[in-house]
Parts: sequence; C-alpha cells; structure tokens
Amino acid sequence: MLRIGMLTSGGDCQALNAALRGVYKCVVNNAKEPVEFYGFEDGYKGLIYGKFRILTGADFKGILTRGGTILGTSRCPFKTIRVPDEDGIDKVEAMKQTYYKLQLDCLVMGGGNGSTKTANLLSEEGLNVVTLPKTIDNDLWGTEMTFGFQSAVDIATTAIDQIHTTASSHGRVFIVEIMGHKVGWLPLNAGIAGGADVILLPEIPYDINKVVEAIEGRDKGGSRFTIIAVAEGAISKEDAKLSKKEYRKKLENYPYPSVSYEIADQIQKMTGREVRVTVPGHTQRGGGPNAYDRVFASRVGAEAGKLILRKEFGYMIGYKDREMVKVPLKEVAGKLKTVDPNASIIKEAKLLGISFGD
Ligand code: F6P
Repeated sequence: MLRIGMLTSGGDCQALNAALRGVYKCVVNNAKEPVEFYGFEDGYKGLIYGKFRILTGADFKGILTRGGTILGTSRCPFKTIRVPDEDGIDKVEAMKQTYYKLQLDCLVMGGGNGSTKTANLLSEEGLNVVTLPKTIDNDLWGTEMTFGFQSAVDIATTAIDQIHTTASSHGRVFIVEIMGHKVGWLPLNAGIAGGADVILLPEIPYDINKVVEAIEGRDKGGSRFTIIAVAEGAISKEDAKLSKKEYRKKLENYPYPSVSYEIADQIQKMTGREVRVTVPGHTQRGGGPNAYDRVFASRVGAEAGKLILRKEFGYMIGYKDREMVKVPLKEVAGKLKTVDPNASIIKEAKLLGISFGD
C-alpha cells in the first residue's frame, strides 16, 4: 500500500486542483500497488492538527478547470513555525507525528515561497516531500514558471484593457494596482500585455518626477490619457533608501490604503490631472485556470507522481529551458526569483516607450 498525503498552502491560485489531479492520475495509472490519498485541510494546519480526509477518485473528478483548492488553504508563516501555538503545541513535531501515525510514504505540497521553506524543513526532518510550484507571483526560485501566474496575467491584463476605454473617454490618468508585494513579474507582464504607459515595480524604485514626465510627454503627443500599472510593492527612490526600521515607521502613519493612492495623490497635485485608482485585488487569484495553466499544472502533477513512484523525494517540480525538471528543495528554500532591472524584457519594454519611472 502506498500512502500519499496532500496539502495546499499559502495564498490559493488557479490550477492548484489541476496539479493535484495530475498527481492522482499519474500515481493511480502507474502504481504497481494500491494507493491511498490523504487530503489535509487548510494547508499545514491540517497536518499539524491531524485534520484530513481520505480522497477517492470522485474527489479528483471534474477539477481540472476548477479554481481555488479542494483541500482549502491557509497561511502558516515559516518564521513562526518553530514557535509553539497558543496551546503549547510544537508545530513541527505535530506534523511529523501526523505523518508517522498515518504511515504516510510521502507528502505532496502545493505552495509558494514560505510554504516551500516549511516543506524543506520537513524534508530535513526526515519526511519524504515533493512540492508543486504554485503562485500567481511567479517568484519561486528554481523554476521559470509557476502555475497560477499565466491565469493571473490574463485577469490583470483584462483589468487594464477595461480601463482603457473609460480612461480615453474621460482623458484621465488611471492607476491599476496589480498584485506583487516583493516581486513584479505579474505587473510587468500584465502591464506590457495591457499596453500600460508606465509600469512601477518593487525591483525598480521610481522617481515621481519621471512618472509625471511620462504623463506630460503623452499629453504633448496628443494622448488624452495615461495608464500606469503599479505593483502592490512599488517603492519610490526615497523610500528605497530608508532602513527597514525607518520604512516600517513611515508605514505606521501612512495615510493611504496602498502605494497606488499615494502616487495618485502626488500626480494629481503635480499635474492638476484627474487620477483614478483601480484595484482588481483578489480577482487576480480567482476563477478557473486558463489553458496554459491547465497544461502546465497537469505536467507538474505527472512529474511529481513520477518522482513519488520512483521514491525520489526532497524536490520541487520546476520548469527550465522548456523542460520539466526536479529541483532540490534545499536549493529553492529561502530564495526569491525577482525581476532583474537589466533583463531583456525590461530593455525591450523601454524600447517600446514604456516608462519604469527610473
Ligand atoms: O499569493 C500571492 C499573493 O496573491 C500576492 O500576490 C499578494 O500580495 C498576496 O498574496 C495577498 O495575500 P492575501 O491573500 O493574504 O491578502
């Protein structure tokens, strides 16, 4: 008997279910012995507190196209994983106990950065772990692609597309705030796809004067409107110079809901133009996966299933040079795949006339 535990952790995204289904199909179709699947509820919490259900074929039917996660998810921050919970439970020990009590052969975890750090920790503690690269941010180190990303790019692009007509009718400056606190792959790609005039990313601190220059340049060229794609984590050159402590202090008394509103306020004061902010927010993680993500997540699932059957553990499935690869968890954990300000995509965007406010 092969016993496989499954959980999804951190922010959800499109194609998590497609990836779980891929694992299930690959294992069931190719295993030489009976297989049992244990689905842990709401991420690592399910493993810590022993909340699970046995998953059967029926659970995996019709979920290729379904958004969210059939297992539920939650955030279980890595930085407090070694801190006992309010009842004094040692979370890491509790996860190990659940794993051994159920006599699991391995654990499959679909998650992003923090969740992969915890997976690596469990692997170091002796559990057999395989992870699936999930996040709309596409910021997991060791893979060129994560599932969820392409679907989120589509949604954020549609948000920018929708703004175009109204921005043009009213001759307004529009800011569309796109998810990405630390890393800007999503705003970068949606910004280019949606024809944004200015894209502000966490990796490229902006100068508000340059942003205003771009707007005025468009005015002079006869364009009535400007669209600015702003990452949630966009940061000004001045703020980027602050120490972490100073920046935290600034945020304590911050009068705006997010950086987009601060930028809007500055532009309004500096240009006298009407500025509006649109925040598509969690719609970017919502709904079903697009075709790309369905294919990619299914391939991820099949590769993870293959590793399980070969009893190769301690890996994340990744994508490199058009091939699916296995990446040691210890290489992935704790690293971020950020946008390089000198990357060719940034240079090409600049050649197209897009301003990054730098
Ligand atoms: O999961 C990634 C992400 O969607 C980020 O893009 C975003 O900044 C964050 O999660 C939002 O987190 P939450 O869902 O906890 O508000």
